[in-house]
This record gives sequence, C-alpha cells and structure tokens, in this order.
Amino acid sequence: MEIARFRRILVTGGAGFIGSNFARYLLEQGAPEIVVLDKLTYAGNLANLADLAGRPGFRFIQGDIADPAAVAAAMENCDAVVNFAAETHVDRSLLEPAAFIQTNVQGTYVLLETAVRCGVERFVQVSTDEVYGEVLTGRSRESDPLRPRNPYSASKASGDLFALAYYASYGLPVMVTRGANTYGPYQHPEKFIPLSVTNLLEGRPIPIYGDGRQERDWLHVRDHCRAIALVLTRGEPGQVYNVGAGNHRPNLEVARTIVRLLGLSDDLIQHVADRPGHDRRYAVDASKIEALGWTPEIPFDEGLAETVRWYEAHREWWTPLKSGEFADYYRRNYGARGVLGRGEQ
Ligand code: NAD
Ligand code: TYD
Repeated sequence: MEIARFRRILVTGGAGFIGSNFARYLLEQGAPEIVVLDKLTYAGNLANLADLAGRPGFRFIQGDIADPAAVAAAMENCDAVVNFAAETHVDRSLLEPAAFIQTNVQGTYVLLETAVRCGVERFVQVSTDEVYGEVLTGRSRESDPLRPRNPYSASKASGDLFALAYYASYGLPVMVTRGANTYGPYQHPEKFIPLSVTNLLEGRPIPIYGDGRQERDWLHVRDHCRAIALVLTRGEPGQVYNVGAGNHRPNLEVARTIVRLLGLSDDLIQHVADRPGHDRRYAVDASKIEALGWTPEIPFDEGLAETVRWYEAHREWWTPLKSGEFADYYRRNYGARGVLGRGEQ
C-alpha cells in the first residue's frame, strides 16, 4: 500500500516541527491531497509550510483538534488521518499542564470519535517514547507498561490508550508510533538542540539541566517521517510501533559537539538547576518497525552538523520565535534555574 493510494490525508499539527516535515514528505511521495489542520499555537508556524502553500493538492485550515465542528469539516472525505497535533514541551507542561490535557487527551478523543463517524481507513496516532517513563537500562518494548512521570508524557500516554481503545471498541484502524527525541530543520527553539544552537548564535550560553548526563536517543526528522509513513501504509491496525535510531548520547556530549561545530568554547556550557522529575534515559527497541522494512538512514554526526548549518542559515526563521511569548517563557523557566543569573534578562 503506497502513499499515492490515499485520496486525501488529514495531517493535524502540520504547522509544527515534525508535521510540516511530514506534509512535505507526503507530497514528495506523491500524495494526491493533503489537508493540514492546525490551531497555530505558539509552536505552530505557517512559515514552516511556506514552500507548500499554493501547491496543487495542499490545503491549510486553522482550527483546534478539540473542536468537533472544525475537525468534522477538516476530515470530510479523508481516508487517512495522521495526528501530530499536541502540546509537546515537557518544561511547559510542568508550568501549565491544563493545555496538555485539553489537546493531547480531549483533542485526540475528538479526532478518534470523528474518524469513526467518517469511516476513516487508517489513523496514525503519533506518540513518543516518553510514555514508557525513564528507562535506566535496556530498551522499552511496545508491550511494556506505560510509566509516564510528567504532565506531557502522562497526557500522551492517555492519548495512546484512547487510540488503542477506539481500535478495540469500535474497530477504528488505529496505529500508534512511539518515536524517540527528534531533531532537524524547523524545530522550535524551545527544544534542546535548537535552543543550544540558537543561543550560541546569539552569544548566549547553553543551559544544561543538572549534571547533563541524561541520555536521549536522537532521531532525524526525515527518518522519523519515513517511519510514520511506513506505519501509515503498512502498519497493522491496533498495533504500536517504537521508532528509535540507536543514537544515545548524554546531553552534555550533544552540547559539546554543537559548541565544537560552531568553533566556540566549552565555557559556553552552563549547568543550571535540574528539571523536576527529569527522566534520565529513554531507549526503545525498534525491531518491530524494522521488521516492517524501516531502518534509520541519517547518522547522528551528519544530521547534527547539517542541522546546525540549517539554523545558521535561517536566522530569519528562528529570530522572531525567540521574542515576545518566548522571551516571557524563557524568563519564567530559566530564571528559576539560575541561567539568567548573569544579568541575561
Ligand atoms: P510541535 O510543538 O513542533 O508542533 C505541534 C503542532 O501542533 C503545532 O503546529 C501546534 O500549533 C499544533 N497544535 C497544538 N495544539 C493544537 C490543537 N489543539 N489543535 C490543532 N493543532 C494544535 O511538535 P512536534 O515536535 O512536531 O511533535 C509532533 C508530534 O510528535 C507530537 O504529538 C509529539 O508528541 C510527537 N513526538 C515529538 C517528538 C520530538 O522529539 N519532537 C518525538 C516523538 C514524538
Ligand atoms: P527536550 O528537547 O526538552 O526534550 P525532552 O525533554 O522531551 O526529552 O530536552 C532534551 C534533553 O535536554 C532533556 O534531557 C532535557 C535537556 N535540556 C537541557 O539540559 N537544557 C535545556 O535548556 C533544555 C530545553 C533541555
């Protein structure tokens, strides 16, 4: 089953980081029609889709996945749905959890309910490896218990469970993907890699939470998009698929590599107070999606170097994202950790 067989695919959250890369990937793969539904929260950005606007087969609708009328209109005549729409930042979920429950739980429910009514043929719920909670040793398998430890991962775990319940209860052909930490072009500068790169480009330090030995498995956004597309076309309904690249790195090592790529000094790495409940490690066993035919293609060192160059070359894209609302968030989040202690306000 190839992408081009779908007449119309709804991509929710398609103005965000992974969703916009995915919309671009679908068009490259010959998808006849794509509808992007996005609320355009602080994380949604039409600039992420600027090169797709006006292309035949591409339509953008501004709307909330928790609004049944907006969802019904967007899902009309869609045979497939891929749900990226979410509140996604752990630090913000610690400051203000309510929006996470509203979008990641209630919004997912509205999408599932509407998909049943519309008779959607394939529904991919894009989730995260963070639902397993921290994994100090070994790798999470899809059948492992979910032990989320912060409001973001708890809300995503809840969305997963509703998605799987809609398969069992109503026969909606749902697949869930649980991807690892993703990086690449168009990622909002609140997240670790783009925050580090753009801070350095602005002459600011990289704030490292705690000892910096927490480990993440870094997955390039293009590899992540290929995995989601494969699950969309070949995944088995009712199944969960982990997506991980095996690029486990401690945060401190990632920070040092970025500093080096920009020809700067390690003095720009500044330890600050730790994130409360900071998960020390995530790691998934990806053999199930590998058996479907997926394998990561972008080595981390190459992907990171290319990503650093992308942010260097696209200041006009990220500079506006670091003012206004973000400056406020930065003061609230990083002021409390001491990163602003040297008069950086
Ligand atoms: P992002 O924050 O860059 O984008 C989220 C998008 O969803 C934004 O465009 C935003 O405007 C939109 N949105 C938020 N609330 C909405 C609502 N109520 N209705 C409609 N649109 C809404 O996020 P991302 O990093 O691209 O993540 C996309 C998905 O992938 C999320 O579900 C996330 O949990 C999952 N995921 C992300 C990562 C990662 O490392 N970034 C890893 C694994 C899984
Ligand atoms: P992040 O990009 O927020 O993703 P997640 O928390 O969903 O894994 O953070 C990645 C890692 O980097 C995580 O261990 C927290 C750490 N981190 C910092 O050390 N400093 C920062 O300023 C940020 C944003 C994250």
